[in-house]
Amino acid sequence: MAPAHSLAHSLDLLDPDAFDGGQPHEAFAWLRDNDPVHWHREPGGPGFWAVTRYDDVKLVGRDPAAFSSAGGILIPDVRAAQDDDAPRMMLEMDAPDHTRYRRLAVPEFLPKAVKGMAPRVEALAVRIIDDVIERGECDLVTEVAGLMPSYVIAEMLGVPLADGVELYDLTETIHSTPDPENPDAGMTAVMAMLEYARGVWADRRAEPRDDLSTALAHATVNGEPLSEIDFGLYFLLLVDAGGDTTRNLVATGMLALLEHPDQLDLLRGDLDGRLDAAIEELLRWVSPVVYMRRTATRPVRLGDKQIAAGDKVVMYYGSANRDPRAFTDPDVLDIGRGPNPHVAFGGGGPHYCLGAHLGRAEIRAMLREILTRLRGLRTAQRPEWLTSTFISGVKHLPVEFDPAPRLGPLLAD
Ligand code: HEM
Repeated sequence: MAPAHSLAHSLDLLDPDAFDGGQPHEAFAWLRDNDPVHWHREPGGPGFWAVTRYDDVKLVGRDPAAFSSAGGILIPDVRAAQDDDAPRMMLEMDAPDHTRYRRLAVPEFLPKAVKGMAPRVEALAVRIIDDVIERGECDLVTEVAGLMPSYVIAEMLGVPLADGVELYDLTETIHSTPDPENPDAGMTAVMAMLEYARGVWADRRAEPRDDLSTALAHATVNGEPLSEIDFGLYFLLLVDAGGDTTRNLVATGMLALLEHPDQLDLLRGDLDGRLDAAIEELLRWVSPVVYMRRTATRPVRLGDKQIAAGDKVVMYYGSANRDPRAFTDPDVLDIGRGPNPHVAFGGGGPHYCLGAHLGRAEIRAMLREILTRLRGLRTAQRPEWLTSTFISGVKHLPVEFDPAPRLGPLLAD
């Protein structure tokens, strides 16, 4: 453990390398104990408040009147002030617009709707494992965990599964740290996604089908039909939000279980009885979304700090989920933990994850298949972690297992 003063000086939550190997839990622990509402400098920007205690994270997330999403949810200010009226994703809206947009997709994500999709999600999980099981080795991130959310959202939006995988690849490019050799790659990927969405929008306007794209293409907000660009941004958000989050939970959650064989054995010993609690614990442990940002709308006191109107306030979910003020022995992975009021899907405010039920259903199906069918599962090489300050998890996880026969036909469209 580094001495406290050196941690305070070396702390940099904007350095992607600080997230290589997992979230910087030692630094988070120091902040929670010594400076829970910490002013963090930001090269090229005004700086931000890093909020690391569980209660404070919930407080910020649940008070949208004081902490707005309209300034953006990433730390850098990507939106110029004069763009205030430009179209935006609902993730970056406040009420009443946020409420009006969110309402359009809510029915498809309610527990009842997700329950109806469960057999299909389970069938997809079987086929994903089928496609690797005869080989006895694979990359658990790209060839297993990443496919499930791409396929499921593709089915909901009514586009071919293969297109779902390509759209997901575009979101990866959008999230990547800009490559100096190809600085426009992110913007090109956004344009490609919006172009694809434009085609779907035009198609469903002309020929309605029974899918979420049709519901959105024919939806109205304030009496006006959703424009092509509003549809495109909604489409992008749906493809994006459930992708690397669910993928990282499954792959990084499996890595955590492999690193804690006692917990893995416990889970395998009673999968039906323990899987649901284990999923909640893996959500707490991995916390795939590192942070969400808000912007103060007025002067407000948080902890012992005075926040000024316009200040950026950042909720660190991974830190809140390891706060000993909220969880007993937070640094112990305990698949039987209960209650487990983690904030991996957000702290419970209006932006609370729309896909929480769906994500759980995908994770449940994938973990069940992995745990029951990939016998002798072990890591083959050291995992490669994402170096992102926003999304946490492994990027590549080469694994080996005992080859076994597939159960169904090839995964075709
Ligand atoms: C392990 C999986 C997932 C995690 C950890 C996760 C986490 C989150 C978090 C932290 C937020 C922001 C909450 C807030 O600001 O209060 C969020 C929002 C959102 N998530 Fe998820 N998510 C997951 C899966 C999904 C899935 C499968 C979908 C389905 C498409 C989805 C769709 C969304 C949407 C649309 C929003 C924005 C909601 C709004 O602005 O009202 N998520 N998610």
